[in-house]
Amino acid sequence: MKLANKHIFVTGGAKGIGEAIVRDAAAESASVTFIDIDEYAGNRLASELSADGKSVAFFSADVASFDQLKTAFESGVNRFGEVTGVVNNAGVNSHADPVKMTDKEWDDFFAIDMKPVWLTAKLALPAMRKAKAGSIVNICSIHGRLTYPGFFPYGAAKSAVLGLTRNLALDEGRHQIRVNAVSPGYILTELTKTWLSGESGRLERANSIQPLGRMGEPFEVAKVVTFLLSDKSTYVSGSDWAVDGGLGARSA
Ligand SMILES: NC(=O)c1ccc[n+]([C@@H]2O[C@H](COP(=O)([O-])OP(=O)(O)OC[C@H]3O[C@@H](n4cnc5c(N)ncnc54)[C@H](O)[C@@H]3O)[C@@H](O)[C@H]2O)c1
Repeated sequence: MKLANKHIFVTGGAKGIGEAIVRDAAAESASVTFIDIDEYAGNRLASELSADGKSVAFFSADVASFDQLKTAFESGVNRFGEVTGVVNNAGVNSHADPVKMTDKEWDDFFAIDMKPVWLTAKLALPAMRKAKAGSIVNICSIHGRLTYPGFFPYGAAKSAVLGLTRNLALDEGRHQIRVNAVSPGYILTELTKTWLSGESGRLERANSIQPLGRMGEPFEVAKVVTFLLSDKSTYVSGSDWAVDGGLGARSA
């Protein structure tokens, strides 16, 4: 019951890492509000967890729209009270060429992978400041620090999320609000499986570089997120937790 009496707001919670975060937080007794653009998967998950006695609410919303984000956030507050923890998880990949990428493609991508981290802070911080408590966890990536060719918008967005994490941690610390990042390596979700199947030999190469000899599972990220949301991590702020099976230690 690490999250008893907490209300956690999760973006992109219908599938993948976000789904695992929703499941783990609910299993640890939190009330959970989550949003996603996949209405079918979101409703299915919420129904399953509610039938199991968990306090879970799903709202269909796109993180790229501040109006939708705000409406969903306020609906969650009406249902379960003030939000005590936020997990910014929604994200997509962006493989691009710096010459061919259009202005709009750049803006659309940053509107999903970067800007919502600030927007949810804008929504959640007033009540957190008043309560003098709160935890924000930003799902970043190993690509915030180490990356590979052809992935420059993603590396830029995740580096920006790391920067925002550090600044918010400094600014909000005096209000007893903690802000941390979690940086997964290769985690077996739809996003990763689609990419791995995009080129022959990619899966074998990805497996061959893993120090633990395997890729990660979504629940292995969720366990670290739950810890950072909980009162077991009261002196942890401004940090970046690698959940990459040691991949970030590799040089060749
Ligand atoms: N899977 C990995 O290996 C990996 C590694 C490092 C970082 N990450 C990061 O973890 C996060 C989750 O990735 P995942 O692998 O679970 O992806 P996923 O595609 O499996 O799940 C992402 C979820 O976010 C939702 N979503 C996408 N765009 C949205 C939007 N505009 N508004 C609301 N919801 C939206 C999707 O519908 C989906 O439910 C992302 O931020 C990603 O960058 C993943």
